[in-house]
Amino acid sequence: MTNKPKNGNGSEIFEPAAEIVKNANVQEYEKLYKKSIEDREGFWAEQAENLDWFKKWDKVLDDSNKPFYKWFVNGKINIVYNAIDRHLKTWRKNKLAIIWEGEPGDVRTYSYHALDREVTRFANVLKSMGTKKGDIVTIYMPQIPELVFAMLACAKIGAAHSVVYGGFSVEALAERIEDANSKVLITADGGYRRGKIIDLKNIANEAMKRSPTIEVCITVKRTGHEVFMENDRDFWYHDLISIPFANNKCETEIMDAEDMLFILYTSGTTGRPKGVLHTHGGYAVYTATTHKMVFDIKDDDRWWCAADPGWITGHSYIVYGPLINGSTIMMYEGAPNHPYPNRWWQMIEKYGVTILYTSPTAIRGLMRFGEAWINRHDISSLRLLGSVGEPINPEAWKWYFKEVGKEKCPIMDTWWQTESGGFMITPLPITPLKPGSATKPFFGNEVAVVNNKGEEVKVGEEGKLVIKSPWPGMARTIYKAPDRFVETYWKEFEKQGWYKAGDSARIDKDGYVWIIGRIDDVIKVSGYRLGSAEIESALVSHDSVSEAAAIGLPHELKGNAIHAFVILKAGLKHNKELEKELKEHVKNEIGAIAKPEAINFVETLPKTRSGKIMRRVLKAQALGQDVGDLSTLDD
Ligand code: WTA
Repeated sequence: MTNKPKNGNGSEIFEPAAEIVKNANVQEYEKLYKKSIEDREGFWAEQAENLDWFKKWDKVLDDSNKPFYKWFVNGKINIVYNAIDRHLKTWRKNKLAIIWEGEPGDVRTYSYHALDREVTRFANVLKSMGTKKGDIVTIYMPQIPELVFAMLACAKIGAAHSVVYGGFSVEALAERIEDANSKVLITADGGYRRGKIIDLKNIANEAMKRSPTIEVCITVKRTGHEVFMENDRDFWYHDLISIPFANNKCETEIMDAEDMLFILYTSGTTGRPKGVLHTHGGYAVYTATTHKMVFDIKDDDRWWCAADPGWITGHSYIVYGPLINGSTIMMYEGAPNHPYPNRWWQMIEKYGVTILYTSPTAIRGLMRFGEAWINRHDISSLRLLGSVGEPINPEAWKWYFKEVGKEKCPIMDTWWQTESGGFMITPLPITPLKPGSATKPFFGNEVAVVNNKGEEVKVGEEGKLVIKSPWPGMARTIYKAPDRFVETYWKEFEKQGWYKAGDSARIDKDGYVWIIGRIDDVIKVSGYRLGSAEIESALVSHDSVSEAAAIGLPHELKGNAIHAFVILKAGLKHNKELEKELKEHVKNEIGAIAKPEAINFVETLPKTRSGKIMRRVLKAQALGQDVGDLSTLDD
């Protein structure tokens, strides 16, 4: 068997290595795919059998109220029962669940038994604070084990979590707390990033001033630096969990399969971020199945998804999918190049990591430092690699394959979204790979690339990516905004009943899907998802700004970078100082990832007659491309 490239009509094909194929969990794609489409419900019922249910479902799929699909109707389950409790009855009780390394080099490990103790204690704390089934707890933390405990503790008692990425700042946090109407906030005194302390508690304090719904704020002591704690509202995590409750026991709540597990805010085309809602049943089945099949999970694997739990990748593939599968997960708090660019390779060697799943931005960043940093370490434990978040350029793919995977580890380029809950288009370890293509739909999923009329475009042509069939991991709605859910994803191809992904793509003659990128006003910066509207409203909240537009332009390392166009208030003059101030302002409001690369001061912005900013015109102009149809342009 060869794992060397074979030229096939313009794009290279990398055949999987025999060793991988021989032992793969899934041995054959085409036949099983066909079966999963012909009998979708049968396929998913079979997968759901791998989980533990308090009561089995009556019906696999209820599509009587499209697009509000229901899965595993009347099934009773709790995702935490599957992620922890059931493992305690097996030898996995003493298997490592989490290996965590802090940026300064401190290490903590938890077996499933130990994880259960932590989660149970914290679940009891939350209960004692009045948290009930159905409440939404906001979590704003660095990547420390307590973040995982907090998520699982919420789910265990039937509360939902809303994790806000620790890189977000005051306004982003305040807005999310308010939308979720959270009474409890869990945070930390800080986290480490490139040797510096990120002062999360301070940001949380500011956010609580702006959104006063929080009654209780629980703070984990991570850095020990001094933070302001308000009497009666603020409590230390270590104080609360040191009080024993009920023999450190806590029953895992029996939930309906369709009960809310979490909301996760993500950026859309217009307005505020939307709270994408996922459930206990379908999401558990989907994340566990995709994780196990795509990454070929075995009991002796050490799985490292180097994302942040604050994004969907972390929810699905650091926390839920892997724990349901009883995996040992690796977590790392800090920057990949701290103190030196060998940090990741050092940890892979030290812990014997077998699977690494990361983003093209991280790969490009590490590639820049060169392979000499890798070659200081023995990373031969690796057997599979993964990529997610944005299209991976073939150059980075090949570097990753050759230098990290030593030409023996297949790369799973997984395309999916916050809304999809788990992988949608992805290779399996047995799939012949083409660098830059996410290859083929996962089982049960039918995808197509269509034009505005909903007709499939020709082979190799670009169009809108749609998903034609429901899947268990699909978002159920947008929290408190079902109309927006319909409008955003289902309206355009309502007649056909298809889900619009918001990406453009093409499909080649072998049926391989090539994702091109977002076609809406979502900007992927370093794989992180931001919306034009958020950046614009942050800019406009500055005293000197009258109007603003934000677009993404290609960037070598980040994939895309934010470029802003700003109209100042009458009489104001722009200068370097102000440019810097505006960039800082966006950083302080939303977070460092949203900080514009460049700010252009302009007199007017291209708008439609109804007053909508035509960002595509700005983008085309900036790229020196044809601006296209301008018939709707005002003036
Ligand atoms: C992009 C992240 C190309 C895509 C899991 C999608 C990708 C958006 C890939 C969702 C990939 C994700 N190849 N593009 N393998 N994976 N994307 O919600 O534009 O943060 O629509 O979910 O990321 O971003 P989100």
